[in-house]
Amino acid sequence: MNVKDALNRPIRDIRISVTDRCNYRCAYCMPNEEYDWVNRDEILSFEEIACLTRIFAGLGTEKVRLTGGEPLVRKDVHELVRMLARLPGIRDVSLTTNGALLAEQMPDLSAAGLKRINISLDTLDAAKFRTITQRGELAPVLNGIVAARKAGLQSIKINCVVIRKFNDDEIIDLADFARRYSLTMRFIEYMDVGDSNEWRFDRVVPKREILEILRARFPIREIGRADGRAPAVDYKYEDGRGVVGVIGSVTEPFCGTCDRARLTADGKLVTCLFSNVGHDLKTPLRLGESDEKLSARIADIWTGRRDRFSDDRWGALKTRSGYDPKQYSKIEMIRLGG
Ligand code: GTP
Ligand code: 5AD
Ligand code: SF4
Ligand code: SF4
Repeated sequence: MNVKDALNRPIRDIRISVTDRCNYRCAYCMPNEEYDWVNRDEILSFEEIACLTRIFAGLGTEKVRLTGGEPLVRKDVHELVRMLARLPGIRDVSLTTNGALLAEQMPDLSAAGLKRINISLDTLDAAKFRTITQRGELAPVLNGIVAARKAGLQSIKINCVVIRKFNDDEIIDLADFARRYSLTMRFIEYMDVGDSNEWRFDRVVPKREILEILRARFPIREIGRADGRAPAVDYKYEDGRGVVGVIGSVTEPFCGTCDRARLTADGKLVTCLFSNVGHDLKTPLRLGESDEKLSARIADIWTGRRDRFSDDRWGALKTRSGYDPKQYSKIEMIRLGG
C-alpha cells in the first residue's frame, strides 16, 4: 500500500535518529552544553527500529537515512545498517554524519552495505571549525572523508551550512576542495531549526547569492533535483568535474514534494522538521501491538499530514510583518537529525 498525506505526498523516505547524543555542539544546531537527554531505556533497540522500518516499507517507504544527534556515537551502528539494508522494499540505506568518528567506522559501515554518506563540513579553517562545533577538530573529519573515499562508496556528499559573515567567504574554497577529491559539495541555507540557535534572516545566504558566487568562478549548469524531489538542486560543472548542490531550505522551500518522515531515537514519528510534537510509536510497539495495527496507526497519522512549514515561513518572510522564529516552539534538531 502506498499511503499519501492530505497534500498527496507519499512516505518515500524515512530519516531515523539513532541517538540524540552528539559529540559536537554546533552553533546553528544545538549550542547548549546540556539538555534534557533521552533516557537509555527509552531509546529504540536495533530490532525495534528494523521492525518499524519494515512496517514503513509496507506503506511505500523505499529509502532510509540514519541520523542523530551524531549517529556514529551509537555503538555498532553498522549492525543496524546491515539489518535495514536487508529489508524487502528498502532500496537505499544512507547516513548523515559529522565525520568525527568516521575513519574508524568506515570499514564496518561499508562491509554492512552502506553505499551513500553525507558528511558535514562547514569550514576548512581549523580555528573556525572549533568555533562553530564548539568541541570538534577538523583533522579527524578530513580523515573520515579520506576513509569514505578509500571505501569506494557510490556517493559522498559534503554538507556546508552557509552562515553570513561566518563561512560565506569559503564557498569557493569548499567547492574547490570537493572538486579536487571528487566529492559532491552541497551548500545549505541556514534554517531556524529547534529553539536554541540564534537564527536571523540576515544570516541566511540565499541560494541565489550562493549561485552567483559559484558562477563567478565556475561555469555550471542546472540539472535539477534528484528524482525531481530532493531538497538539493544540483548543478553540473561545465568542465565535467562533478556536481555541486544548493539547498534553498529557506528561500526555495520544497514542501510540495516532501516525502520524508522522521523517527526520533525514542520512537516518535515526526511529520515535519519544524514540528513541535511527535507521535509515540514506541509504547504500542513495546506493548506488542500487531504489525497491522501499527501500520494502520502510521497510515492514520500520515493521511492527516498537512505540514508545509517552510512554504509558510517563506510566505511570511516576504510580507511586511516578516517572520519571528521565537513564535514557534520546535523539537531540537539534535533529536530529529535534520
Ligand atoms: P540525499 O538527498 O539523499 O543526499 O539526502 P538529504 O540531502 O535529504 O539529507 P541530509 O541529511 O544530507 O540533509 C541535507 C540538508 O537538507 C540538511 O540541512 C537537512 O536539514 C535538510 N533537509 C533534509 N530534509 C529536509 C526536509 O524535509 N525539510 C527541510 N526543511 N530540510 C531538509
Ligand atoms: N540549518 C541548515 N542545516 C542544518 N544542519 C544542522 N543545523 C542546520 C541548520 N540550522 C545540517 C547539518 C547536517 C544536516 C543533518 O543538517 O549540517 O549536515
Ligand atoms: Fe552539529 Fe549535527 Fe551534532 Fe547538530 S547533530 S550539533 S549539526 S554535529
Ligand atoms: Fe517537509 Fe516540513 Fe521540511 Fe516542508 S519544512 S520540506 S514539510 S520537513
